[in-house]
Amino acid sequence: MAAPAASAASAAPAAARGSAPPVLALSALTWSVGAVTIVEDVELAVGEGELLALIGPNGAGKTTLFNLVSGVTRPSAGAVLLDGRPVHRLPPHRRARLGIGRTFQSSSVFPTMTVAEHVDLAARAVGARRVAAAEVAGVLERVRLAHRGAEPAGGLSHGDKRKLELAMLLASTIHREGPRLMLLDEPMAGVAAEEVDELTEVIRWLHRTEGRTLLMVEHHMDVVLDLADRIAVLHHGVLLAHGDPTTVMADPEVQRAYLGEAL
Ligand SMILES: Nc1ncnc2c1ncn2[C@@H]1O[C@H](COP(=O)(O)OP(=O)(O)OP(=O)(O)O)[C@@H](O)[C@H]1O
Ligand SMILES: [Mg+2]
Repeated sequence: MAAPAASAASAAPAAARGSAPPVLALSALTWSVGAVTIVEDVELAVGEGELLALIGPNGAGKTTLFNLVSGVTRPSAGAVLLDGRPVHRLPPHRRARLGIGRTFQSSSVFPTMTVAEHVDLAARAVGARRVAAAEVAGVLERVRLAHRGAEPAGGLSHGDKRKLELAMLLASTIHREGPRLMLLDEPMAGVAAEEVDELTEVIRWLHRTEGRTLLMVEHHMDVVLDLADRIAVLHHGVLLAHGDPTTVMADPEVQRAYLGEAL
């Protein structure tokens, strides 16, 4: 009995916690249009269960970076790795199947379709699997929309539309447990001030209680500082700083990048 135990122990370190590759790793990630480089040589990793906020002034390249990760655009150079596996040559639907899910900067729902139908559609779009009504209800419960399932999505407030998009994201993979990595592009955009707190709580639930891995672009700095484990700052396509929120926000280079903008 001792020998197999010893060999199992010697094989263990490679798979042990901490030595596994990060959920997402960007290596020298670059995207150019003609002579203009929009994202330049970005090195960044998001660890298991981490919420990393990506911030930066308008036009910094944040959405472009999301497009490179989700597959809307292919990098000019560099690599995108999901759990250590290169995915940057795969089309968006293949990346979605592997567990990269995203929401978009502007809200998009079908006004006449019900809330529950949206979740059902999202589950089928990528996974081609049928979902039971109870499963749809379960997903809606997690984003605090359980009571709105039968209503047309067009009647939802902006905050509730954002929650619906999160529900669709949770249902949008072949994995019942939801996406491996969630990319949220400005989840608070267009959301009324009085709805920000509840939407923040939904994202906190996904992160803290469900242990999900999230990369979030957000301009609301109070939300960023409330939720983020780490912050990365993009400026003119270059990663200016990344690290714990206090250190990053105190960085003089970061403050200069935001000169003239309210931080
Ligand atoms: N397909 C494209 N062709 C040319 N330029 C582009 C293209 N897509 C984005 N850009 C440019 O890349 C820059 C970064 O845009 P991006 O949308 O990524 O910024 P952002 O950081 O998401 O800004 P915001 O905070 O306003 O959403 C902008 O100058 C934009 O005009
Ligand atoms: Mg953007």
